[in-house]
Amino acid sequence: MRERGSEMRGGLRIFPDKQSLSRAVAEAFVDSADRLVSERHRFSVALAGGGTPRLLYQLLGGELRKNIPWAHVHFFLSDERYVPRDHPDSNYRLVREAMLVHVAMPPENLHFPRTDFEEPEAAARHYEQSLASFFAPVEPRLDWILLGLGEDSHLASLFPGSSALDETERWVVAVKDSPKPPPVRLTMTLPLINLAGEVHFLVSGREKAEALRSSREGPPNPGQLPAHGVRPLEGALSWWVDESAASGLKG
Ligand code: 6PG
Repeated sequence: MRERGSEMRGGLRIFPDKQSLSRAVAEAFVDSADRLVSERHRFSVALAGGGTPRLLYQLLGGELRKNIPWAHVHFFLSDERYVPRDHPDSNYRLVREAMLVHVAMPPENLHFPRTDFEEPEAAARHYEQSLASFFAPVEPRLDWILLGLGEDSHLASLFPGSSALDETERWVVAVKDSPKPPPVRLTMTLPLINLAGEVHFLVSGREKAEALRSSREGPPNPGQLPAHGVRPLEGALSWWVDESAASGLKG
């Protein structure tokens, strides 16, 4: 693993492949869970969707399962596709099949967005309310937020050029024009992401090299490069990437 300077865009850890990347993040998850549950009796995590984190979730629900205080872990999702929970595109289904079916978590620790409201906006407000209730009376400061990076540099369901990137108040919004199918999604916003204690990007594969390069090294352009808007107010920002994704980096 190579560590690069933690420039303004956060610390960078480069791994030979997705397997070693996923294991390293899984071990960091175990350490953070241990520490925060000892200190505060809970560990709140927004899980990323998409395919990259699947191996991480399998590790957490598999060989590392016994090292995690599941009764004190609380899961959210950084974003969700607006489909039924048993739909192949559902991030909930991804997380459930890769991890949740293998661990004993109290149902009340699973704070996933509902996708059965008539209007996605109503679902966004409901999810936002569940975040507010969980963290009341303070603002929702998730301990960890996991994010992937799209080939077009999107994160969660915040896409280049989207008006959702300009949101300054809401913590969750509905997106209806996602260029990545399905088109309708719910997503955490930058104000919520930037409240987190730790924000962790997981990026793997050569197809992400340009998105990673411009997100980390490109001139500031938050309207087209959503990661440029990820600046945790008090938290830490980390990039966990493999050699293929890092192949375009200069620094
Ligand atoms: C989603 C994800 C999305 C994902 C990126 C990377 O719901 O689609 O949250 O932001 O993280 O598109 O996806 P892959 O990991 O599959 O490359």
